[in-house]
Amino acid sequence: MRINPARRLRGDFRLPGDKSISHRSAMLAALGEGTTRLQNYSSAQDCQSTLDCLAALGVPVTRESGRVLIAGVGLDGLRAPGSLLDVGNSGSTIRMLSGILAGQTFTSEISGDSSIRRRPMKRVIEPLTLMGAHIEAREGNYAPLRISGGRLQAIAYTPPVASAQVKSCVLLAGLFADGTTAVIERTPTRNHTEIMLRECGAAVSTEGGRIAVTGRQALRALGDYTVAGDLSSAAFFLAAAILAPDAQLCVRHIGVNPSRTALVEALKQIGADIAVENPRLTHGEPVADLLACSSSLKGDLALGGAVIANLIDEIPILAVVATRLDGTLTIRDARELRVKESDRIRSIVDNLRRMGAEVEEDEDGLRLAGPQRLRGARIESSGDHRIAMAFTVAGLIAEGETEVAGAEAAAVSLPEFYQLLAQSGAPIEGP
Ligand code: S3P
Repeated sequence: MRINPARRLRGDFRLPGDKSISHRSAMLAALGEGTTRLQNYSSAQDCQSTLDCLAALGVPVTRESGRVLIAGVGLDGLRAPGSLLDVGNSGSTIRMLSGILAGQTFTSEISGDSSIRRRPMKRVIEPLTLMGAHIEAREGNYAPLRISGGRLQAIAYTPPVASAQVKSCVLLAGLFADGTTAVIERTPTRNHTEIMLRECGAAVSTEGGRIAVTGRQALRALGDYTVAGDLSSAAFFLAAAILAPDAQLCVRHIGVNPSRTALVEALKQIGADIAVENPRLTHGEPVADLLACSSSLKGDLALGGAVIANLIDEIPILAVVATRLDGTLTIRDARELRVKESDRIRSIVDNLRRMGAEVEEDEDGLRLAGPQRLRGARIESSGDHRIAMAFTVAGLIAEGETEVAGAEAAAVSLPEFYQLLAQSGAPIEGP
């Protein structure tokens, strides 16, 4: 993709459903009793991987006029897959589905692309083993995972890393356990699984960081369920609108669950012109329309500790925004970025440097003093969707032309990204 400086941006659109919510809706619909019709299911390749894995486990999944129809098979209705379950690039699929596979009486194997095979899985292997599953993994930590489950025991588990994927994995396994399974979170993470389990009629309690689910209870189908738009995708459009001259973009029906909105708060704190309009609640999830306009950004932003889990996926685009900040962005306690789809601290720092920016790299974060000029350069996405999209936005404010190599990675979370940006007036040309 070749990107040139944006002179004017205008747009008003909806975005495909939230990736996190979509994965969960498909998995819980599969385990429910009755049919679920998912409207605005994410178009991400990652979420298609979840549907493919569920279909391979014998769940009837069909698409009909833009909706995904899932005929729930109940807690005991999954069947042994005929071959290895392939999650592609999706960490959420492998980690959360492992919780469900651990509760099955059959053995299954699950793996994914080269990025997935480098990402740590011990974080789910450990609690699932404590619950009584048997899991074989390369070096005890990496996919492929071979999972033999069965009747699980309930546990109370405190994950060593702040991770919604791990929390969800344990809660999903807890559905197959006798008794009450609890996850104790030292740092709160996105709570979509808890909210959706309640939508399915499950008894879930959340008190002071302890999230507990009762096992062996039948789940209701989600019925007609509309997935809220993806805030982590919206983030790239909000940033483009804030950074570009003469820009105004409105993204409608976006999920604004407070466990996900730290980016919006951080941007507002440095003077970004973002309005959160028409707040409402759908299926237990807060939703709103977001309007962002060209802004001048001022102030220091130091992010570390508990807030990191809330905006972990938005750090690449936040680093790009900070090049226009009259102030300093400091990110700490974000070591998790090193084990995402790419080593995101490295990918951010390398690409910012390619564009001529000065940025300090830390083991667990980075530091960037703005404002700094960016110049067009050849960007490497490293096969990472959020790096491709963040640096496409950087290209809109750089001098000269930017070329993003590996831009097709954007489809992992938002296949429509380049089209929507081009429709809004961004000078983008692609193959
Ligand atoms: C996700 C949780 C986060 C996030 C990922 C999606 C989820 O990962 O980075 O993109 O859907 O639960 P961790 O839970 O590993 O931090």
